[in-house]
Formats: sequence, C-alpha cells, structure tokens
Amino acid sequence: MDYSSSLSSLSFHFNSFRASANSFLSQYEPLLLLLAPLFSLILAHLLRSFFNLIHERGLKASLLGFLMSSVKLIPGVKSYIDREKQKVVDKMQSDGKSKREGWRTELPSTGLGTLVLEKMKEEKRKDVAWQGKCSGTVYIGGSEIDGHFSLINEACSMFAHTNPLHLDVFQSVGRFEAEVVAMTAALLGSQEKSSGGQVCGNMTSGGTESILLAVKSSRDYMKSKKGITRPEMIIPVSAHSAYDKAAQYFNIKLWRVAVNKDFQADVKAIRRHINKNTILIVGSAPGFPHGIIDPIEELGQLASSFGICLHVDLCLGGFVLPFARELGYPIPPFDFSVKGVSSISVDVHKYGLAPKGTSIVLYRDHEIRKVSHWPGHKVLGIFEAPTEYLVESGFVLFFRISCDPIHQFVAVPNSTYLSGLPMICFPFLPVLVLNSWYMANQWSFCSTGYLENTKTIMEATKRIQKGIEEISELYVVGRPDMTIVAFGSNVLDIFEVNDLMTSKGWHLNALQRPNSIHICVTLQHVPVVEDFLTDLKESVNTVKENPGPISGGLAPIYGAAGKMPDRGMVQDLLVDYMDGTC
Ligand SMILES: *Cc1c(COP(=O)(O)O)cnc(C)c1O
Ligand SMILES: *[C@@H]1O[C@H](CO)[C@@H](O)[C@H](O)[C@H]1NC(C)=O
Ligand SMILES: *[C@@H]1O[C@H](CO)[C@@H](O)[C@H](O)[C@H]1NC(C)=O
Repeated sequence: MDYSSSLSSLSFHFNSFRASANSFLSQYEPLLLLLAPLFSLILAHLLRSFFNLIHERGLKASLLGFLMSSVKLIPGVKSYIDREKQKVVDKMQSDGKSKREGWRTELPSTGLGTLVLEKMKEEKRKDVAWQGKCSGTVYIGGSEIDGHFSLINEACSMFAHTNPLHLDVFQSVGRFEAEVVAMTAALLGSQEKSSGGQVCGNMTSGGTESILLAVKSSRDYMKSKKGITRPEMIIPVSAHSAYDKAAQYFNIKLWRVAVNKDFQADVKAIRRHINKNTILIVGSAPGFPHGIIDPIEELGQLASSFGICLHVDLCLGGFVLPFARELGYPIPPFDFSVKGVSSISVDVHKYGLAPKGTSIVLYRDHEIRKVSHWPGHKVLGIFEAPTEYLVESGFVLFFRISCDPIHQFVAVPNSTYLSGLPMICFPFLPVLVLNSWYMANQWSFCSTGYLENTKTIMEATKRIQKGIEEISELYVVGRPDMTIVAFGSNVLDIFEVNDLMTSKGWHLNALQRPNSIHICVTLQHVPVVEDFLTDLKESVNTVKENPGPISGGLAPIYGAAGKMPDRGMVQDLLVDYMDGTC
C-alpha cells in the first residue's frame, strides 16, 4: 500500500466513526451535551480539592472536620456548642477578669510624681513568687536583688536612654551587638572549617523573632535561587509555635510531621513531604516539649541533597549544648559544623542568662541574609504589614500570644485575627544588647562560667529525672538530652497531678501526645530539687488516693483539649479565650 491509499482508508475510518458517533449522540438534547462536560469539570475540581484536603489534613481529620461542620448545621447544635465553649472560655478567664477591677483606663488629671515608684512596688509585691518555682521563665540564678541581677540592673540604667536607630551617635551599642553575635557564632561552629567561615547574624527581641527572620530569609533566598513562589516548609510536630506564626505572616504552607517513637524528627516522614515548592525543613536541638535533640546531621544531608534550607532551633540549647559536650555528655552534632544547616536561632535570654528580650539569628553566609530585603534595623522591617505608628516610633513589635501554659495545644490563630491582638511593645532596649555583652565578658560569665552553670544545671536535671523515675506511677517521656524533663503517667491523670503542683506554687507546662507535663530546669531550681521531688511525690499520692479533678483546676480543660478530635475546635476555643483577654 502506498502513502495516499493509507491516507484515504484513514479518512474513511474517521468518517464512519463520525457518522456512528453523531447518530448515537442525536438521541440526547444539545443542551445536555453542553452541560455534561461543564458538570464533569466541576466534579473534577471538587474531587481535586477533596484529595488535596485529605493529603493536607489526613483522612480522619478531614472527615471529622466535615462531620463537625455538618452537625453544626442542625438547628440548636451550633448554639449548644457555642454555649459550652463559652463556659470553658469563662473558666479559663475567670482569674484574669476579676483581677481587672479598678484598673485605670484613662490618664489621671494630676500626675503621681515620684509616688509612681511606690505604686509600682506595691503592684510588684502582688506578683506570685516565681523564685525556683517556674519551669523555665527566669534563667538567671540567685536572688533578684543582688549578684547577676543587680549587675544587669546597673548596666540597664546606664544605657536606658540611648537610641539604637542612631548608631552613628551610639557607636558603643553597635559594637556590643556585633561582639555578642560574633561570640555566639563562635560557640556554634562559625570557626570550624566546615562552616565555610562566613557565618553572620543579628540580635533580635526573642527566639520568635529570630525564627521569623530565618524563615523569611529562607523564603526569599529560595525564591531568588530556585524561583519558588508558592513556598512550603516542613517541621516536626515538636517544633515551637513560632513556625506557625512565620507560616501565617509570610504566606508559607506549613506541614507538621509526626515525630518518631523516640520523639525525634522523623527524617523519612519529612522526606516524603518534600516537593518542588519546599524551601525549608526544621530541626530543634532540643525541642521545647520533651527536651530531645532532632537528628540534625541526617536533616542536613536531606536538605543538601534537595538543595533546600535547614533551620536549627537552638533557642533553648545554644548556650548549653556546647558546654554539655565539653563536660562529656553525649551530644550529637547540631551546629554550623553540620553540612546543610543554613540558619540557627539562639536565645541569649534563656541559658545565655541575659534578661528577657534578647536572641540571635545566625546565617551560614551573607548570601542567605542578603536577599532578605529587611533593612539593617531588623526589628522594624520584618513584619510585612506593621502599623505605621509602631514603625515610626521605632518600637520592636513583640507578638506574644499569651497562652503559654497551653502552649503545646496552640494552633496559632490566623493573621486576620492577629491584627486585633494586643501587641506588647517594648522599646528596643539597647540595654538588652548591652547586657548580653556585659554578661558574656564579665568574669563569672565567661566560657568557664557557662561551663560551670551547665554542669550544675545538668546535674540537677539528672537528679530530677532519676527522682521521677523512682515514682512508680510516673514515666519520663523519651530520653531527655538536656535540661528538660517531660513526664506522664499510665495510671493517673497527669493533669490532676499538675493542678496539685500548681496549688503548691509550681508552674509547670502541660503537654499532649502523650498527655504529660514538663519542667525546664534552670539555675533557679538548683537549690529546690528535693522540694520539687517531695511535692511531686505528695501530689501523685493525693491523686492516687482521691482521683478526680480539684476545684478550679485546669485538668478537665487540658484533658478535653487533648481528646478533642477536631483540632479546629481547640483553635476556636483559644481564639475566643485570647479575644476575651484584651
Ligand atoms: C523559647 C523557644 C523559642 C522562642 O521563644 P521566645 O519566647 O520567643 O524566645 C523557640 N524555640 C524553642 C525550642 C524555644 O525553647
Ligand atoms: C546586622 O548584622 C550586620 C553584619 O553582621 C551589621 O552590619 C548590621 O549592622 C546588623 N544590624 C543591626 C541592626 O545591628
Ligand atoms: C481567621 O480568623 C478570623 C477571625 O477569627 C475568621 O473570621 C477567619 O475566617 C479566619 N480565616 C481563616 C482562613 O481561617
């Protein structure tokens, strides 16, 4: 057969197909023929959204979410749920509301003059005793009126009136910042050959801000390097809530991935979530909930092989791990000496022993930071829609969603909500920069000072861990690497134990998955380790003998929040709670 005859047989087949198809379709109305593809298109679209949702939230959560929203359509159900929710919110707020009576809401017509100091003293006296009683919270040791505390007070008063926006005038402050950044970087591998010798960074107002900056820089860096415009990041569920905030502020899709049986980041699970839009993965050393270090080296390999960023959260561990390793504790690699680590956040105001409001963000090299177009004054540039007033007046924006006790329950409210949040604004105290500088240089806080502190705190932690293990009703969650011990119980309601500890003046943190509480051990706890264990034993015995919630306790709320199948409800609850407190 030649070419033209095969063409004519093809056209014959096509014509007979056309004839039979047309005669078959002629039994349908033209309108139907028009609408059918349209419906299929819509159906395909719906199916795709459905599968996307399931991929994002899991089958169980999607079905539950769907079920919950359908149930709420039944008349009366929504109002019933809202009433119940309001009851919980009222209970959570009952404390705060009654205390607000008599609070000033307007400027007084005549000033108090120096009497204001008396007033402030009076109010300060009413604060609860935190000395030695709070998990984390205050990391500096000793009494508030002497030692390192009073040194800080004096340093603060010396620089309280400088203005760091004018570094040409206040050159000392610029020098202090640069030195604190350099000293901290050196502690975290910047001088090792494998770091590349290019590590740079800046001071910030806290771990949250350091994380926000690192995430934003990673996003912009990946955009310029790989052209990613619909960025996604992957974090273990144990990571701090600052990443949720970053995802919302900077429009990044966030994947929270379960941890492995040792409560560490599950590298394989993270790998499964990597796609062409992934900009960043995160590891903590250690994570805040259980004090366990993620496998940073494996995460580094993963990040390098995909050419994406890896942020290491050293907010808690930065000023402990280098010294703990020196003391002989088994600490796996966690800093810039690890290939693939692109940025690090480290809190000077935690184990660095500076006052609250100082942290550092470090980048492996200038490339990563440079693309991020925030100007020199990091704190003023980072929020993409800060209010003009705050920018103009040179304030640090310091978002703190005040729900720390239930921190690990928090699904952070979305950014629409944020615009209505009270912003706690601290003027950017150069003092804070200064303090960390001072403390780092002062003889007792040179590297030997940190080494000694770490030794003391690690030993106190090991004693607490051993004491808890000796209480047969309790178990320690995972194997704590540092100075945090999380513990739960298979036989008691651990949140009831927590309520009893609260009634004894302790402030511990409640966690879920599994239900547990933790103590973040600081220098403040060193003298009271045995008191803590005695109180804990007593509380466990009380709960064992009289199980059931104590009046005014939070156990029922924590318990319920842990059990709530629909995470959306927990989020709603928290939004209502916070909305009511401002
Ligand atoms: C404390 C902490 C942060 C940041 O908290 P800030 O209160 O904003 O300083 C981030 N990650 C971890 C692991 C932390 O412990
Ligand atoms: C941030 O760091 C860079 C280099 O380390 C420095 O030039 C800059 O002044 C720092 N920013 C601020 C606000 O100090
Ligand atoms: C964000 O929160 C606001 C206020 O609570 C709510 O109206 C809005 O629907 C929320 N948006 C999303 C995307 O969840």
